[in-house]
Amino acid sequence: MANSSSSHKLFQALFSKLLCIIFFFSLSTFASTSLRVGFYSSSCPDAEAIVEDAVDKVVSRNPGIAAGLIRMHFHDCFVRGCDASVLLESTLGNPSEKYHPANFPTLRGFEVIDEAKAKIEVVCPNTVSCADILAFAARDSANKVGGINYVVPAGRRDGYISRKEDASALPSFTFHAERLASEFGKRGLSVAEMVTLSGAHSIGIAHCPTFVGRLYSFNTTHAQDPSLDPSYADYLKSKCPPPSSSGDDGSQQPDVDLDFSTPHHLDNSYYIELTNHRGLLISDQTLLSSSLTSKMVLRYAHHRSKWATKFGKAMVKMGKIDVLTGSKGEIRRHCSFVN
Ligand code: HEM
Ligand SMILES: *[C@@H]1O[C@H](CO)[C@@H](O)[C@H](O)[C@H]1NC(C)=O
Repeated sequence: MANSSSSHKLFQALFSKLLCIIFFFSLSTFASTSLRVGFYSSSCPDAEAIVEDAVDKVVSRNPGIAAGLIRMHFHDCFVRGCDASVLLESTLGNPSEKYHPANFPTLRGFEVIDEAKAKIEVVCPNTVSCADILAFAARDSANKVGGINYVVPAGRRDGYISRKEDASALPSFTFHAERLASEFGKRGLSVAEMVTLSGAHSIGIAHCPTFVGRLYSFNTTHAQDPSLDPSYADYLKSKCPPPSSSGDDGSQQPDVDLDFSTPHHLDNSYYIELTNHRGLLISDQTLLSSSLTSKMVLRYAHHRSKWATKFGKAMVKMGKIDVLTGSKGEIRRHCSFVN
């Protein structure tokens, strides 16, 4: 009897050791394939400072670039995951994401990434991925124009593929809340995170073709989108004439600030403007109109700091979509070309 109980104890001890080993084993394999804060702290300790410096210099001259870089990170992550596919140039017979109308010619800030990458290659060649540089640059932009700081787990690697038509997967400015929620859901982001990330539209601009459909011939019963504040609609009409059939892509047309009140400051004023019916895109104003999201809009309109904290968290989550880690992908030498 005593014998069997001691062997039982021995078995238990061995078993729990085994569990421990399995646990640490899976933890270490997990760690090697997931992103980590301070990923470059020994391999390239100056990497983040170099990116910050590049962003700082350019954004001081042109705050619009901060908007460009935040949007670029979003467009990277939503298409093939955060693998810097948005940065690649076309190759013979293969136009790249960069040239899809959702990106071209309005996506901006490429030169900041190139500059940071060039400087980093001098001090630590073949070490820091373009996908990480973009994630850092988006964070530094948020910090620079919104005082929103957050730590960015790194260790992304760069993809080999970029196809123009893949960028059709980006959500459209005509989408309503339910469709937006489903697009974000496909990438593992919640409805709340979708609403939170949309607050990025508190900076930057949109060109006439993205909202002119709301102004002159909305639908068969309304010439003008009834969810638009009428005097705001008049202001938008003064900027954007009715679309002509000239067939231009609209990029030569004027642009309008996405946030009517504080266009160069990344803050919760986006949500306040939605409650004033001055959301510029259908995809913005729908967040107030839809019962799925309206409560969150009202809450963020009233609580600036609550939004800012959540925004940082949601950016980190967005930055983890389908990343390449470990031995997948590569570290590009130049962000516009695969090695
Ligand atoms: C919810 C779905 C979204 C849609 C439909 C959408 C659509 C758009 C459109 C149409 C523009 C204007 C492009 C132009 O005409 O130049 C724009 C600009 C912008 N978007 Fe979004 N967006 C969405 C979500 C996001 C997210 C999640 C972020 C970042 C976290 C973001 C960041 C930006 C920024 C910063 C700009 C201004 C860019 C600049 O000034 O260069 N957007 N977006
Ligand atoms: C036109 O838009 C309004 C407001 O969004 C909507 O209530 C109405 O049902 C629409 N009418 C048609 C015919 O689609």
